[in-house]
Amino acid sequence: MNPEQSSSAGTRRDFLRTTAAAAALAAPTIVPASVFGAAAPSNRITLGCIGLGNQGYPVMQRFLENEQCQVLAVCDVNRGSDGYKNEGQLLGREPAREAVEKHYGKSKSGGGYKGCDAYNDFREILARGDIDAVVIAAPDHWHSTMTVQACEAGKDVYCEKPLGLTIADQQAMVRAVREHNRVLQTGSHERSNPNVRKVVELVRSGAIGKVKRVVANVGRHNMIGPGPGWQPMPVPEGFDYDMWLGPAPTAPYHQDRCLYRFRFNYDYAGGQVTNFGAHSLDIAQWGLGMDDSGPVEVESIYAEFLPKGSLFNAATFTHFRCKYPGGVSLECVTGEPSVRCVFEGTEGLVRIDNQGREFVTIPSDLKSDRFGDDVPEVYASNDDHQRNFIDCVKSRTKPAAPVEVGHRSATVCHIGNIALRLGKKLKWDPQAERFVGSEAANNMLSRPVRESWKPSAV
Ligand SMILES: NC(=O)c1ccc[n+]([C@@H]2O[C@H](COP(=O)([O-])OP(=O)(O)OC[C@H]3O[C@@H](n4cnc5c(N)ncnc54)[C@H](O)[C@@H]3O)[C@@H](O)[C@H]2O)c1
Repeated sequence: MNPEQSSSAGTRRDFLRTTAAAAALAAPTIVPASVFGAAAPSNRITLGCIGLGNQGYPVMQRFLENEQCQVLAVCDVNRGSDGYKNEGQLLGREPAREAVEKHYGKSKSGGGYKGCDAYNDFREILARGDIDAVVIAAPDHWHSTMTVQACEAGKDVYCEKPLGLTIADQQAMVRAVREHNRVLQTGSHERSNPNVRKVVELVRSGAIGKVKRVVANVGRHNMIGPGPGWQPMPVPEGFDYDMWLGPAPTAPYHQDRCLYRFRFNYDYAGGQVTNFGAHSLDIAQWGLGMDDSGPVEVESIYAEFLPKGSLFNAATFTHFRCKYPGGVSLECVTGEPSVRCVFEGTEGLVRIDNQGREFVTIPSDLKSDRFGDDVPEVYASNDDHQRNFIDCVKSRTKPAAPVEVGHRSATVCHIGNIALRLGKKLKWDPQAERFVGSEAANNMLSRPVRESWKPSAV
């Protein structure tokens, strides 16, 4: 069965198509021809955006620019404030609603625009039958709960990277997407970057010979939170802290726990290993053709942590090494921030910068004429990851970074973090998705979920 038919999303669009067609038959001179065009309401994918901070806001703007979709609602537990990554930037629910209304108020002629709804609780968006898909840019500890519930509600999902907080979270997301026939795009936008694709094609076609080593960089911590003895702060007005914590353990409020800075605390994220690693390790996995598998070994080489009792407990400096079948090694290091990923082969090297703007090869002629005979087919998405998602929601096809890809790439980040935290060398079985011979490591594949957010409780 076409998944669209089984969902509330499909029902809404089918209803609109039928209504428009009936109206056209009844009064053909009144209904404009554009009703049946590509951007007709029946074809537009309707969106609810959840999490409107440092990343959610610009991603929402990309969707606003796309005439094939329409943002109907926004949701954030923060009514609106500064305190995000960039000083002085006002983000959250109300600034997002205002931006949506300003955009459509300007661009939609005819005065029929009804405005954008703003919610504190994402479940109100999921309950709406007129919303086809959700954009999730809340912190990592929310990705799985929101995605699973969205799939159950028949919504397609654009979910920011890293796919989940833990490997078990991600497995639940893969199951939900498959069970409910949903389209999920992971926010690993390098998958829609033609430069990165060219690098992957070069590597996979054998242009650098046999791959020996890959280096994937992650950045240093760009903020340092309070040290041992830090004191809780009062929760700001307009910020629903309990709903921010959600499935994570109860903890006293401090501003450095939440907006943007959550990524440096293992309760909500995985430090720069999952933050930047979800980009650089994703490119490594793609180049190595490992989207349905992964390394077989992971070894902690070096990790630095802030003093015990600091609010930020994620490693500040990291180096771990993975081994892939066939002996290729992958070094994930806190390294040169301008370089994202380097592939080294027996006959050359290719290096891509951290913005994916350019790549360098040694020897330099690799760029133009050193493709092997057997150029592999690599998914081509053209420079707009959000548009690729909308196109795939419409065509019911796999997007550039489907849930399985997001899961496999983030798994490399998670097993790296587990090795770093245990200070160990571990064997990993990528098919069973378990460590071999380490119960301590296997116990870190999942995390306890707060009672009220256990799947059985919601
Ligand atoms: N693809 C990329 O390049 C990229 C870049 C930056 C961040 N990200 C990802 O985006 C996600 C968000 O990161 P950020 O830097 O924007 O963080 P942020 O703190 O700036 O924004 C997160 C927003 O989510 C809101 N939020 C928290 N819980 C919520 C809930 N239950 N319901 C609704 N809203 C909730 C917060 O109030 C905040 O406004 C992370 O997973 C991060 O890894 C991706």
